[in-house]
Amino acid sequence: MEYVLFGLIAYVLGSIPSALIVGKLGFKIDIREHGSGNLGATNTFRVLGKKAGIIVTLSDILKGTIAVLIPLFFDAEINRLIIGIFAVIGHTYPLFAKFKGGKAVATSAGIILGINPLLFIIMVTTFLITLYISKYVSLSSMITGVVTILVSIFFKDIGLMIVISILTIFVFYRHRENLKRIKNGTEPKIKWM
Ligand code: G3P
Repeated sequence: MEYVLFGLIAYVLGSIPSALIVGKLGFKIDIREHGSGNLGATNTFRVLGKKAGIIVTLSDILKGTIAVLIPLFFDAEINRLIIGIFAVIGHTYPLFAKFKGGKAVATSAGIILGINPLLFIIMVTTFLITLYISKYVSLSSMITGVVTILVSIFFKDIGLMIVISILTIFVFYRHRENLKRIKNGTEPKIKWM
C-alpha cells in the first residue's frame, strides 16, 4: 500500500512540467514548439536562455530528490529508489502535459542526490567533464549514466546498481533520436562552454 501511495505522489510530482511552466509564465512560449520540442532543461537553455535553463534544471532535479525524501518523513519502510523511478516516469510521461515530457536525465540525477549525495557529485562532475570535451548534452547524459553504473559498484549496494542500470537504459531509450542525430552529424552542440 505504501508503494502505491508514495509512488503516486512521486508520479504526480514528476509530472510537473517545469520547462512548460517557465516557458509559458516567463516568456509566453510553448517550448514544445521550439528547438528539439523536448520538455527538458537542455531545450530550455537552447530556447529560453541560461537563467530559465538553470531554473528548469534545478526544478527537474528537485522533483526526483523530493520524491525520494518524502517517505523518510513518514518513516515508511520502503525502497525509496523504486519510488524515485515513479518520479522519472512522471517527468517523461507527465500527467499535466499530455504524457510527453523530458528525457529522464535531471530527475534521475535528483533521485541519486536524495539517496547518495556523493554519487550525485561524481555524476555531475562526470557530466561536466564529458560536456566540456564533447559539447553534446545528450551524449554527456548517456556517458554519465554508464559511468554512474560502474561507480555504483564501489558502493556495494546491489539495489542502487540495479536501479541506476534501469534508469541508464531508459535514458538511452529516450535519446534514440539524439543518437541518430549524433551519428549523422546533425545533433546541436552547446556554444556556451
Ligand atoms: O537530457 C536531454 C538532452 O540530453 C537532450 O535534449 O533537447 O537536445 O533533445 P534535446
